[in-house]
Amino acid sequence: MSPFFPFGPDLAFNRAAAAAVWPSPPFRHALCERSTRLGSLHPAEAELMAGAGPGRVWDFRAGRHCARQVLAALGHAGIPVLMDAHGAPRWPRDVVGSISHSGGKAIAVATRDPAIRAVGADIQMLAWPFPREALPFLFRPEEIRVILGAGPRHADHHAYAVFSAKESVMKCCCAAFGCLPEMTAVLIEMDLAEGIFRARTPGWPACGDFHGSGVAGRVGFDGSHVLTGIWLRQAPRPGRMLRSIQHQRSEL
Ligand SMILES: CC(C)(COP(=O)(O)OP(=O)(O)OC[C@H]1O[C@@H](n2cnc3c(N)ncnc32)[C@H](O)[C@@H]1OP(=O)(O)O)[C@@H](O)C(=O)NCCC(=O)NCCS
Repeated sequence: MSPFFPFGPDLAFNRAAAAAVWPSPPFRHALCERSTRLGSLHPAEAELMAGAGPGRVWDFRAGRHCARQVLAALGHAGIPVLMDAHGAPRWPRDVVGSISHSGGKAIAVATRDPAIRAVGADIQMLAWPFPREALPFLFRPEEIRVILGAGPRHADHHAYAVFSAKESVMKCCCAAFGCLPEMTAVLIEMDLAEGIFRARTPGWPACGDFHGSGVAGRVGFDGSHVLTGIWLRQAPRPGRMLRSIQHQRSEL
């Protein structure tokens, strides 16, 4: 599956990329952009934005606008999405999900599937070129080798994809384990030809499954943004282990 969708900056292209990253079922997702007429915030959500500047307020409103659509599709219409002590969205008890915004676009993803333990979503605007001076602060040496080795035509796509994947992993880790690994603690092996990546956190045992053999995620591009997604399944009961592994393979 190629992660590159027909290039163009509008929402139709974002939708194609997002649909490839977020399988439905079990996930529901919603996207919006600057031209979208955003619904009002719930009063309790609006309180969270007291004193915030217009850019931050648009991002927050756009993320909540998407979250509201996703929750309505999951049978939770009209529920506010507040914030926990880490800044993560507080979903209804039977929902796991994630929100991201960048460069005038936003996405919310959620599921009520009890087999899914945590979700990490990211959307990242592609602002060419990816700043080379930032590479050592964001990436591990093995990642930088792969990014620069991708050649001038692909290095920027690769760098943005890896950066976005790391942010998805960080959100997923925070939701599952209450720990936020540093950016350079997350190792991403990106396969842009297939639209998938593997994420590991070597040296961070608190990150559970990510510390071991790693977790698979998905990546998709359109003309203006890269989208990544990763999710953790509940630990299978021993008798169900084989079926779960087969299921994970069939999801990719
Ligand atoms: C989580 C984080 C990587 C998000 O990335 P980002 O590039 O800033 O922004 P994105 O647009 O991709 O995502 C922002 C959204 O992520 C969600 N988010 C924020 N913190 C989060 C967290 N700790 N876990 C999961 N999701 C989180 C929010 O929904 C936020 O949007 P909102 O504030 O409008 O609701 C960043 O906010 C961060 O590093 N937070 C640190 C929080 C922390 O230290 N937590 C303690 C350990 S768990």
